[in-house]
Amino acid sequence: METKIFNSTAELDRAAASEFVKQVTLKPSSVIGLSTGRTTGPIHQTITTMYEQCPFDTSSLVLFALDEIAGVPKEYSGACYTMIRNEIADSLHIPDERLITLPVKSEHWEKDFDSFVESIASHGGIDLLFLGLGTNCHLGFNQPGTEFSKMTAYSWMMPELEERIREETGITDDTSLGGVTLGIRGIMNSRRIILAAKGAEKAEAVKKMIQGPVCEEVPASVLQLHPFCTILLDKEAASLL
Ligand code: GLP
Repeated sequence: METKIFNSTAELDRAAASEFVKQVTLKPSSVIGLSTGRTTGPIHQTITTMYEQCPFDTSSLVLFALDEIAGVPKEYSGACYTMIRNEIADSLHIPDERLITLPVKSEHWEKDFDSFVESIASHGGIDLLFLGLGTNCHLGFNQPGTEFSKMTAYSWMMPELEERIREETGITDDTSLGGVTLGIRGIMNSRRIILAAKGAEKAEAVKKMIQGPVCEEVPASVLQLHPFCTILLDKEAASLL
């Protein structure tokens, strides 16, 4: 696990975006996984800007969204599909056939999980995966306690996020919300992983991820075992190391 600490979030965003561009330049048919959130949004913006300034070949690039909110409309602005489409996939001209996502609703989750995993495998597997970090050390929607051996997972929803989604969508309590995600085993199968964390509110989680014991109660700690994982931090997120 390699750790890089940046003086500003803008520098971090540029470093992460450069890794994306480098990956696509070296292998145009790369399969790249993306995460949504306040950390990765500006990274997507930076990639888009780099593409506009100096376009690279995206005609065979495959993107996928690491996770999804279960129970919301696909068009909801906070749905991972919609966020990835709006933040980066549209600008890079990636059609839906090359944007692999988990569904927001399903009668048969196991079947949909299988086709998500098979679809990624059919394109050659994950070349590069970008991750954010939850304050409770979750990765995607792999909450504390999720078994490391899972390829995919269905999780409970964090209460604060659930409250915001219900406010924004008007979805009432009789519809349950959850999170669906590539599991820890699926994440660890990536050839390369880049995790970004910003801000003091992530400092405790960063310390546990890098310096704590590897255990299922701290999902991100598993990254200590990955052979090619880079952690990008701003000074605040690195303050407890
Ligand atoms: C959500 C997403 C994760 C993301 C995390 C961090 O839980 N499911 O994939 O990494 O939020 O979000 P933020 O960067 O906004 O703190």
